[in-house]
Amino acid sequence: MRFIADEKSAEKIKDVFKGEIIGREIIFFESVTSTNDRAFEIARQRENPEGIVVIADTQTRGRGRLGRRWISPPGVNLYFTVLLKPPFSPKESFILTSASAVAAATAIREYTGLDARIKWPNDILINNRKSCGILTEMKSGRDGINLMAVGIGINVNMLPDAFTDDIKPFTTSLKIESGLSFDRDKLLGQILAGLENAYKNLLTGNKRALINDWLRLNCTIGNKISVRSRAGIISGIAAGINDNGELLVGLSSGKIERVRAGDVTILKN
Ligand code: BTN
Repeated sequence: MRFIADEKSAEKIKDVFKGEIIGREIIFFESVTSTNDRAFEIARQRENPEGIVVIADTQTRGRGRLGRRWISPPGVNLYFTVLLKPPFSPKESFILTSASAVAAATAIREYTGLDARIKWPNDILINNRKSCGILTEMKSGRDGINLMAVGIGINVNMLPDAFTDDIKPFTTSLKIESGLSFDRDKLLGQILAGLENAYKNLLTGNKRALINDWLRLNCTIGNKISVRSRAGIISGIAAGINDNGELLVGLSSGKIERVRAGDVTILKN
């Protein structure tokens, strides 16, 4: 399966998806350190970087959340970053992470038929194993509006041997789960289409549809969980998310704690 880094691929993505905002420019690289880093570099050279999508076939220093690395072998997976300039405060912009998770989970479900579910904030699990992660980073733009890099990594056609032993039990790919290989360009096109749709809804102030989609696709709410964040570890019941996509955790004291960033473990009841 030939993939990206050529014009044919760009055409294929545009067959599935013609974005007005996202994908106005799609830039392919065979290899980068991290698509998020390269996207921020490119943004510095553009008057208006909003909607630029940076894709790579492999990353030499792919980054995950909380300082972890993201294994990024060539020829098998999707690694891409979408640049956005949301006219919201940084706190309100956090909802774009939820929008990206909804777009990725929906595209995976529609294209592969697999039961992809969102674990707060933005891991996509299939049969309780992670197949996709999202790293959202923000910088102040020259014009004072924040520039957001939404970096998405999906294990598409990766085989078990490519995972390191420490993450093997918790990680999977679309191919491992289905026995089938998938066209990465087609999947990418569907994700970008979903993200464009969600972003346009958010720009017009329609958050409800997105939150409802997130709730329909999630596997976190209602469960007993523990959350590890910079502030430490808390345990309780995942009670819901608020309009900014923050997780609401019901503690045994009856207090509701709001969590903005962290790692959730779903505990057995
Ligand atoms: C996580 O779940 O920890 C987030 C993983 C995010 C990985 C993607 S791959 C494309 C983009 N570039 C990176 O260096 N990271 C993100």
